[in-house]
Amino acid sequence: MPRDWSKSEALLERARQSLPAGVSSPFRAKAPVPLFFQDGRGPRLLDADGNWYIDYTLAWGPNIHGYRHPRVVAAVRRAAEGPHTYGAQHELEFLTAEKVRSLVPCAELVGFTSSGTEACQIAWRLARAYTGRNLILKFEGHYHGWMDSVLLSYHPGAAEMGDPDSPCVVPQSRGQVPNAAENVVVARWNSSEAVERVFAARGAEIAAVVMEPVLCNSGCILPEPGYLEAVRGIAARYGALLVFDEVITGFRRALGGAQQFYGVTPDLATLGKAIGGGLALSAFAGRREILELLIGGGVAFGGSFNGNPLVLAGALATLEELSRDGGAPLDHANRLGEGLMEGIRDLARRKGLPLLISGFGAAFALHFTARQALREYRDTLGDDQSLLERLVRELAAEGVTILPDGRMYVSTVHTAREAEETLAAFEKVFDRW
Ligand SMILES: Cc1ncc(COP(=O)(O)O)c(C=O)c1O
Repeated sequence: MPRDWSKSEALLERARQSLPAGVSSPFRAKAPVPLFFQDGRGPRLLDADGNWYIDYTLAWGPNIHGYRHPRVVAAVRRAAEGPHTYGAQHELEFLTAEKVRSLVPCAELVGFTSSGTEACQIAWRLARAYTGRNLILKFEGHYHGWMDSVLLSYHPGAAEMGDPDSPCVVPQSRGQVPNAAENVVVARWNSSEAVERVFAARGAEIAAVVMEPVLCNSGCILPEPGYLEAVRGIAARYGALLVFDEVITGFRRALGGAQQFYGVTPDLATLGKAIGGGLALSAFAGRREILELLIGGGVAFGGSFNGNPLVLAGALATLEELSRDGGAPLDHANRLGEGLMEGIRDLARRKGLPLLISGFGAAFALHFTARQALREYRDTLGDDQSLLERLVRELAAEGVTILPDGRMYVSTVHTAREAEETLAAFEKVFDRW
């Protein structure tokens, strides 16, 4: 049933007086209707107009246990009664780090900071310091935060990308320092030949290869079989580090992230989103000798809010809940999501719609494309964005929220009932097309 969004619209008008575009992150202004919310419970959200939604945005990923999970709420409430930050040591730091170490294969040591963007900054700095080299090899379509040094070739336009075999390094923001591009080399993803070629040309200069091990920021594209292993091998052969940006895949693809799922251990990993269960926490983890450069190794790092008790209390509760019963809650999310992927695919097939769904159960994306498979960012450029925008809007009108780029995140608290209602909403929308 179509929804009334008039309060959200009025609130947005008011917010525009005080906030750029009325939002706190411009990504959110792109939503077809920048909705205002007043509450959320489990897998459902309540907007300012009183409409409930089954939510697959999970706040762009963090809410792995949905909204207001009792275990997370209890832990944060307890922590809220104490000091919110010390700027000094307390037990929750090593307790949470121990938990991360027990789950994530590469995590010999763990450092905490507040956002995924910061975690990526320190990981790239550590890689450069450890190897004494400057260049970072990153891939088209991969996102590692919004800082000058990394916001390169994230979503380059077709006209500026250059040749697929030697892509241009494309800055993605006005105001970005112009020479950021000099410190990075870009390749197409999911081709070990492309990586081999870059290393053959510039191997001695490359500090690290950095990637999202599942390309979640360009439509949840899975790595080809053997690809991660091949890149691991090439990096090692040239003395470069392998860095997995697991801000999305961490605690989602598997408890130990994509590195555990695919059995490929990077030298460093960045973690964010799900780790905090909705609180502002990120982490970097990896080989002891690399992270130890922070102590007497001359690598600078800081952050007033690093490791504060409030977020760590939420994170520890989140990770304990995720890993309970051998990881049953996350297995459930992934299984339920796979069922949804299958169900949506089926509905589209019956309607003859060119819908391709890529990704894995707990994070997948919808693409309107004639392609049968996606391998890299360039393959997504032909997606029909107007169909996607229409779907996102019409699903919201039917009470289902997904991300504007067609991504859907499934939490541990979505149930068969939500899946059924979701498929019914898709069917209603597709029936009208
Ligand atoms: C893979 C990846 N890395 C880094 C980031 C940056 O994280 P944050 O938004 O917490 O700064 C994101 C955010 O979406 C991400 O998806």
